[in-house]
Amino acid sequence: MVNYKLIQVENPEKGADQFYQLIKEELENDRLHVLGLATGSTMIPVYKKLTESQLDFSNVTTFNLDEYVGLQATSPNSYAFFMNDHLFSKKEFKETNIPNGMAENLEEECKRYEEALQKAGLDIQLLGVGENGHIAFNEPGTSADSVTHVAELTDSTLGVNSQYFENDEKIPNTALTMGIASILSAKKLVLLAFGEKKRPAITKFLEGKVDPDWTITYLHDHKDVTIITDLTI
Ligand code: GLP
Repeated sequence: MVNYKLIQVENPEKGADQFYQLIKEELENDRLHVLGLATGSTMIPVYKKLTESQLDFSNVTTFNLDEYVGLQATSPNSYAFFMNDHLFSKKEFKETNIPNGMAENLEEECKRYEEALQKAGLDIQLLGVGENGHIAFNEPGTSADSVTHVAELTDSTLGVNSQYFENDEKIPNTALTMGIASILSAKKLVLLAFGEKKRPAITKFLEGKVDPDWTITYLHDHKDVTIITDLTI
């Protein structure tokens, strides 16, 4: 049984419009209090659309999917910096949360983060996808019952993501990330995938079976998934 909705759009900007409409409706119907956020170039038009809108997020708490280990929030390469730059400095939220990759005890930080997000309860989780099919930093082979954890990044992810690194800073090979179970605990999942480089991941997802080597396919275990893509399938 197909349990997802596929929205095909012409380009990332049209994809951002679709996401905006969805969020607007959820806010208007008082169904959005806790929003899971994502980073990456895919999210730039999305956050642009939200910041240029009149949407009021002052009653919304956010939880980000992941963060590199060992980068200060002041580093332009950290996800904390990205979020501030693209969204949090421009829109008021009730509260924002990002895993602290500078924590002295990373295991403790993961536990704290998971507890906070389970207590809040995610209404919507926004997702991108890596070229190897990862969601958040759940690399191939991550188990279905994983919660927030320290993840080792694969060479593929390091290669792709290092191209965005500024100032000769070296890309960390570990990150803190929500797990598969954390992500699937959200009431609604919305995944955005733009460009040919995402075709293998979307194709794998559309095959319809869960394959732990393509963690995007775990979305088949959720009953409310929307995929927004500019790929013609
Ligand atoms: C990183 C993030 C993912 C994101 C992926 C894709 O690996 N941890 O959450 O989906 O990048 O990024 P982009 O949107 O730049 O293709």
